[in-house]
Amino acid sequence: MQYSIAMAGTRHFSNISMIGFMGTGKSSVGQIVAAQLRFTFVDTDDLIESRTGRTISEIFAQQGEPVFRQLENQLVQELASRTGLVIATGGGLPVNPANLESLKSHSLVICLWASPDAIWERVRHQSHRPLLNDPDPQGKIRRLLAEREPFYRQADVLVNTEMRSVREVAQHVVHQFHMARSGKR
Ligand code: S3P
Repeated sequence: MQYSIAMAGTRHFSNISMIGFMGTGKSSVGQIVAAQLRFTFVDTDDLIESRTGRTISEIFAQQGEPVFRQLENQLVQELASRTGLVIATGGGLPVNPANLESLKSHSLVICLWASPDAIWERVRHQSHRPLLNDPDPQGKIRRLLAEREPFYRQADVLVNTEMRSVREVAQHVVHQFHMARSGKR
């Protein structure tokens, strides 16, 4: 299947961007969605790691979070000229309004949502996220999620991922994308 640039009103939906907090399933869902649509899957964290030759944790530790946020912003600008992508973004990326505005100029923006408790259950045995390397990671999740909620809510579609399998969430995203491209949403 060929992708095409679709428009609904003044919006262009050449890509899908997945935003949302750490552990909400952006990459797992995004990969299934990309396979179904025959789009290319990209993950902003993976691209930053492969280009810099450093892990996200190393970038945070050696250069600091502001440098990481700058790398994210450069990448977002670069991706704006591409089509046929499913873009899984790092959890903090939409906090920069310029990033969200850029994503919205070419993508249907989908936010995956989960409660702080569900997020904690999903990330508690993982160690690659510097922001959760905290004496009180559960408190940090609650605080960051509350801070970021206004940004996440600016997505075109908010999908609650609790009580739904990754496959069900992916199906819902594909459906929303087809609706958006045909102007039905
Ligand atoms: C971050 C989320 C991470 C990664 C970095 C910072 C955040 O991505 O970009 O550790 O600020 O929430 P995931 O959401 O893919 O874990």
